[in-house]
Amino acid sequence: MPTKRSAAPIRIREVVDPADPAIAKAYRLLSRTFEPGERVDRREWIGSLQEGADRVLSDLAWHLIIAEDAEHDVLGLVSGTYLGNVNVGVIGYLAISSEARARGLGSRMRGRLRRAFERDAARIAEAPLAAIVGEVSPSNPWLRKLATREGVLLLDLPYHQPRLREGDLPSPFTLYYEGIERPRSRLAVSELRRILYAIWRRIYRIPRPLERPAFRLMMQALEGRRTIGAPARAGTSTPRKTR
Ligand SMILES: CC(C)(COP(=O)(O)OP(=O)(O)OC[C@H]1O[C@@H](n2cnc3c(N)ncnc32)[C@H](O)[C@@H]1OP(=O)(O)O)[C@@H](O)C(=O)NCCC(=O)NCCS
Repeated sequence: MPTKRSAAPIRIREVVDPADPAIAKAYRLLSRTFEPGERVDRREWIGSLQEGADRVLSDLAWHLIIAEDAEHDVLGLVSGTYLGNVNVGVIGYLAISSEARARGLGSRMRGRLRRAFERDAARIAEAPLAAIVGEVSPSNPWLRKLATREGVLLLDLPYHQPRLREGDLPSPFTLYYEGIERPRSRLAVSELRRILYAIWRRIYRIPRPLERPAFRLMMQALEGRRTIGAPARAGTSTPRKTR
């Protein structure tokens, strides 16, 4: 018998007001889903929404999209940043509450974020969105499915997310590049270097990425290479694991 929750209509909407009461509920879902070292402060969210509301951003856009039930409980969230200088959308967090999982909500939320990025690209770059980029834990089972998708590159480099708190270590992830405008079989290293720098400098707001050992390690791994990333297909070996 369907539960009340599964029968209730779910509304997906973007949060734009920094005073929206749903932000606290969404952050609680984030806190239930991710370890402290994996999540940004709530004031980062509020600050990013304020920048959007005050229209001080030129070629960058930050999104927080939530799924709510009829009681305004937040069942899902996805966040991400469009980087106009490289014309890519970077997925931040995707979290679906445990009771709402495995019903396609994660896929719908990701689709909504992708459409928001496509609108950003049309408005800011006046061009089709080049790609979606995301960080996935090497142990995440979704990585296998992603590897079978046409045009998705699992980038063969020791990618690290910068530490989010003083005293923590940078976190190793697999970085993927999903060509949207056109599927890509290789990515120019010059383009990837700009994307990596933009992620660290503009999304994580690291003042001097080139001074960070983890960032330098990524740059060193790209030295002497002109392109990166073989097309990922079913049955191919998994990308180099960094943990
Ligand atoms: C992963 C999670 C969001 C999936 O939610 P769900 O509603 O059960 O997912 P669905 O039934 O729609 O099926 C999986 C979809 O989630 C999305 N997804 C799963 N893992 C993802 C990831 N790491 N990054 C981006 N999207 C992901 C995909 O869109 C996938 O569908 P697709 O391959 O057709 O595009 C959910 O299990 C969850 O919150 N897990 C804990 C947090 C987590 O691991 N988040 C992902 C890393 S940020």
